[in-house]
Amino acid sequence: MTASPTPIVPDGVIYLDGNSLGPPSARTQERVRQLLEEEWGRDLIASWNAHGWIDLPTRLGGMIAPLIGAGADEVIVADSVSVNLFKLGAAALRGQRPRSVVVCEAEEFPTDGYVMQGLAEFMPGVEVRAVPRAALARVLDDDVALLLVSHVHYRTGEVHDLQELTRKAHAAGAMVLADLSHSAGVIPMSLSAWGVDMATGCGYKYLNGGPGAPAFLYVARRRQRWLRSPLTGWFGHARPFAFEGDYEPAEGMARWLCGTPSVLALAGLEAGLEAYKLADVRVLRAQAMALTDLFIAEVEARCDGLVLASPREAGRRGAQVSLRHPDGYAVMQALIAAGVVGDFRAPDIIRFGFAPLYVTGEQVREAVRRLAVVLDTEAWREPRFQVRAAVT
Ligand SMILES: Cc1ncc(COP(=O)(O)O)c(C=O)c1O
Repeated sequence: MTASPTPIVPDGVIYLDGNSLGPPSARTQERVRQLLEEEWGRDLIASWNAHGWIDLPTRLGGMIAPLIGAGADEVIVADSVSVNLFKLGAAALRGQRPRSVVVCEAEEFPTDGYVMQGLAEFMPGVEVRAVPRAALARVLDDDVALLLVSHVHYRTGEVHDLQELTRKAHAAGAMVLADLSHSAGVIPMSLSAWGVDMATGCGYKYLNGGPGAPAFLYVARRRQRWLRSPLTGWFGHARPFAFEGDYEPAEGMARWLCGTPSVLALAGLEAGLEAYKLADVRVLRAQAMALTDLFIAEVEARCDGLVLASPREAGRRGAQVSLRHPDGYAVMQALIAAGVVGDFRAPDIIRFGFAPLYVTGEQVREAVRRLAVVLDTEAWREPRFQVRAAVT
């Protein structure tokens, strides 16, 4: 019998940061130990075949596929979201010539915008049009090659209507690249049915893969032959172990691999994904909506000086609630010292994630009680809570 894949947090801690870094489970510990001792440690290089390491990116893609409403042959695990945005963005821009504009949100998670800016530097004529969220659909014209959009906004938790945006983008002749980092595992979706062209998302947030876990990458079946990765490394070759002189992309999703997959990191993600074998994302979504509703109601009943930065309507927000406070950083540090872990996003947002796999209603009530104490006693004014760490 294998150990439980349900994520575990240390005793006494209320962990409301699974939208940033999911916790490990007993199964994660078991799987990583097994990899070290029985695979890498004992069977060494034979493990690539004997323990199926070579298939891990595809196998894990198959585990993620049902969470995002895709076919197992449309998803693979590779690299980070940032690198995948580069690969997918470049492929789409090349395929869509002479269209040359990327539309994205001005307030998008920074790496998404940075990568598009980097692509524009590399690809002559490419232009990035960064606009407010509400204007995304309005600026789609005949020049637009690609619409890049986050399904759930990292700062506010607002959910985009990805199906409707995809319809509008396609009507304008643009392709859609979705960042699912804050929705995969907590919001049901049907990427294939919605016609979304490409997507990527983090493995270390709600999927609980561990710090720096590899990301996943989705390409719609109808686009797979047509799109080619610009990072033509040997693992994306049709026959990597034939050691041929010229590059030929693999069929299907394997062409999105580049270098040797990180097996230790993949093992962590594999264990994280096992929790989803036992769960239904529609049920998790209902739980997350109830948890976030409860949190907002409790905060409004008990806490002064906070402003809701997430949509009030549960259907319009992900498994996250963001609140504004002018001294948000210090408030969050004081709250962490009181055993409730969330995070801070500059300039003034304190962010709470409600991963439905392991957060309970009682924890939500207790978290708000502790938040109210931090605010009422102004504990956050203590100098030690003002010192900014590198990671917030
Ligand atoms: C929406 C979004 N996209 C991308 C990233 C970064 O992904 P990676 O570190 O895998 O490049 C994050 C990280 O928090 C994120 O929230």
